[in-house]
Amino acid sequence: QPRVFSGVQPTGNLHLGNYLGAVSRWVPLQDQMETIFCVVDLHAITAGFPAPGELKAATREVTAAYIAAGIDPKKSIIFNQSQVREHAELAWLFNCVARMGWLSRMTQFKEKAGKNKENASVGLFAYPNLMAADILAYRATHVPVGDDQKQHLELTRDIAQKFNNDFANQIKELGIGVPNPTPSPELPEQIYFPVTEPMIAGPATRIMSLRDGTKKMSKSDPSDLSRINLKDDADAISKKIKKAKTDPEALPSEVDGLKDRPEADNLVGIYAALSGKTKQEVLGEFGGQQFSAFKPALSDLAVEKLAPMTGEMRRLTDDPTEIDAILKIGAEKASAIAEPVLKDVRKIIGFLDVR
Ligand code: TYM
Repeated sequence: QPRVFSGVQPTGNLHLGNYLGAVSRWVPLQDQMETIFCVVDLHAITAGFPAPGELKAATREVTAAYIAAGIDPKKSIIFNQSQVREHAELAWLFNCVARMGWLSRMTQFKEKAGKNKENASVGLFAYPNLMAADILAYRATHVPVGDDQKQHLELTRDIAQKFNNDFANQIKELGIGVPNPTPSPELPEQIYFPVTEPMIAGPATRIMSLRDGTKKMSKSDPSDLSRINLKDDADAISKKIKKAKTDPEALPSEVDGLKDRPEADNLVGIYAALSGKTKQEVLGEFGGQQFSAFKPALSDLAVEKLAPMTGEMRRLTDDPTEIDAILKIGAEKASAIAEPVLKDVRKIIGFLDVR
């Protein structure tokens, strides 16, 4: 049966891209499928260990954002990754499934490692294996993320497929597989890990920097003017939108007219995602108008949508008792799913079990 898994790294500066590209899109899924949302704190140490206290604060902040955005702990499992040991264990096993060549092709590693690859942590290199483990420890079938995670999800599919193939006989003998939904003569009839579907759709899969329409909005951009943080107040939001880079033309009336106008395309996409409209509908309303008219409208909309969330996040993080209790229950529920999966996987691989 369908099961959703997704996550956000607790690395500070949660922004509009994380909200529109991921978290906001998770909310309606809660009523359609089983949903599991993780704060991936083990991933947050791949680029260096945060200062003391920072990891705890950032983990609570991401959890608060989930809840403020409408993720309901009664409907979804919400937990932090480090509390469920199966993630680390399965990641190790996947280190032995994935190939060096596959990981060497990951563009995000190349970007994050920069020029000095020799000095990147092994964890940063193996990061996508941990992500595959996050998803497959729950045998999740659907993963809603932004466009930048596409390549990692392809790797997750490759890992699942290689595991299913390499261990086809064991999976069949143990009788713990499920029928392969895409059978073919070369593929096993019974598989253990589902071949996960990426869910990357809508007008906000790739929100760009407000300072440069060719760069992704990111937590690590040194310019705070490049992004709208979920913690920004109304003044900061309108200031950033006012200062956002644009071109001198009026907005076009058709989506085609946004081609080669990355900044305009981005702002229209943000408006569309915030209002639940398509870009074409937004242009139907604002086509022909100047940015001097569009920006204040965008700013009002952003404040209207984000201000209540920001307030709720502040309330939840001021006294973390509630958040910590939610994470505790979430970790227990998550473990109850992941533990039997790892038991199966140990059996499939063939470890001696003496306990
Ligand atoms: P992270 O923490 O970088 O980002 C969290 C989510 O936000 C999306 N996102 C964006 N969407 C649109 N426009 C942007 N500018 C933008 N920036 C970020 C990301 O695509 C992501 O969905 N590796 C993941 C976390 C992760 C994960 C997982 C996700 C770990 N394990 C398992 C899904 C399933 C990451 O670093 O996301």
